[in-house]
Amino acid sequence: MRSLEGSGALITGGASGIGFALAKALAARGARIVLCDRDAAMLAAAESQLVAGGASILALCLDVTDRTAWGVAMDKVRAFGPLHLAFANAGVAPGGAPLSVFDPAAWDRILAVNLTGVFNTIQATVPLIRAHGEGGHIVLTSSMAGMIAAAPIGDYAVTKYGVSALGEALHTELAPDGIGVSVLYPGVVATPLVGESRSSGMTPEAVADRVLAAIAANELFVFTHADYRPLVAARFEAILDAFGPSADPAFAESAGVLAMMRQTPYSAQK
Ligand SMILES: NC(=O)c1ccc[n+]([C@@H]2O[C@H](COP(=O)([O-])OP(=O)(O)OC[C@H]3O[C@@H](n4cnc5c(N)ncnc54)[C@H](O)[C@@H]3O)[C@@H](O)[C@H]2O)c1
Repeated sequence: MRSLEGSGALITGGASGIGFALAKALAARGARIVLCDRDAAMLAAAESQLVAGGASILALCLDVTDRTAWGVAMDKVRAFGPLHLAFANAGVAPGGAPLSVFDPAAWDRILAVNLTGVFNTIQATVPLIRAHGEGGHIVLTSSMAGMIAAAPIGDYAVTKYGVSALGEALHTELAPDGIGVSVLYPGVVATPLVGESRSSGMTPEAVADRVLAAIAANELFVFTHADYRPLVAARFEAILDAFGPSADPAFAESAGVLAMMRQTPYSAQK
């Protein structure tokens, strides 16, 4: 990845929390920022703060679920200059009800923002990053709920597992273009999204610094909270323990399925 100085960086959900901390950290390193958020008032406040600090900002009031709006927005982004970095960060909190009685309209909404919104961000930004041939980097914000599906936040976990899969597949897809992909898995971060837990979470600024270091090192999996490691280990141990002997080891090989599955950053040598 080239130097951040003069690079163009688009951030969704950039007016608050982790997105705004990323904007501040990138601006401090001389990047030009495309700050996107659906909340116009928060966007204007964030823009003012960044501009007052001397940053070069294009503020776009954009709902990540709105594909028509993405088309209009990307014309403005092209005019702003070359894009090198994209942060698919916008997201909403869990709906707070068990899956078996979850409101279907709320289900559609969280899928649209947290998962399809990330897909829309990828589709809008990758052509612009590819266009200049200088390479770049894409960061997708998942969550520890993208590794561990706890029952009270099943809806949220579904979206964050999906973001994790998007990032892993995209990592392989974009490697030939010199575009790195990272997936961010924060635990609790002190932002409005987590409401009353705010005072006990990691600061969004610490998360942003970790993300910029991960971009420099081209890391795929970006963890911020080491205290979740035993839970992730327990999950993968349970999965590995559940494998018995293969019924027909030759079939998957002959059908080319294993070869396809090996096209991941972590399984190429297995
Ligand atoms: N805070 C945490 O503890 C935590 C933990 C893990 C993952 N995350 C994830 O981090 C990301 C950022 O969250 P945060 O904690 O900074 O929350 P936040 O509420 O401070 O910021 C989210 C921003 O996204 C914007 N947004 C929401 N829906 C949008 C849409 N449809 N289109 C455009 N913008 C939209 C909001 O207006 C807000 O400015 C989210 O994807 C969240 O799921 C947060």
